[in-house]
Amino acid sequence: MADLESAQLLAELEPTVADNLNRHMATADEWMPHEYVPWSLGRDFADLGGDPWEVAQSQLSPIARTALEVNLLTEDNLPSYHREIDRAFGRDSAWGTWVNRWTAEEGRHAFCIRDYLLVTRGVDPVELERARMETMETGYEALDKSLLNVCAYVSFQELATRISHRNTGRYTAEPI
Ligand SMILES: [Fe+2]
Repeated sequence: MADLESAQLLAELEPTVADNLNRHMATADEWMPHEYVPWSLGRDFADLGGDPWEVAQSQLSPIARTALEVNLLTEDNLPSYHREIDRAFGRDSAWGTWVNRWTAEEGRHAFCIRDYLLVTRGVDPVELERARMETMETGYEALDKSLLNVCAYVSFQELATRISHRNTGRYTAEPI
């Protein structure tokens, strides 16, 4: 639970959060992760009688494979991030609405990238899954950051992630 100073700050910032949340909700375009996945390229893996993954099946360059895997693992750690922002910002008022909305939005980033990578055989699915398990078991801890530090961290992290995804898109040289 937030200490007194954090509680005061949350209350003071709440109208600004509400304004910006409402602005976002009014202007954000709905998008569908499944629309970015070329499902017709998908086929079974070995346990269902298909071919196991081989690196030659991937159309991605090594640098694009690495970038997509790292970006996806970062997205996959969402439960940890949710826990931390829930702890920092709480479940009440516009803060809580934003926490849930942000978490829901983040979730579809991972769906989209994972489905794309599995369907196109872009990365080794076994290595990817093992790395996901390890990443999530390690988790993420915001430690004892102050409320303002958490706000700053989330803001910079969002921008950093956007830059990372855009650069990754460039390296894939893949129109989708
Ligand atoms: Fe994301």
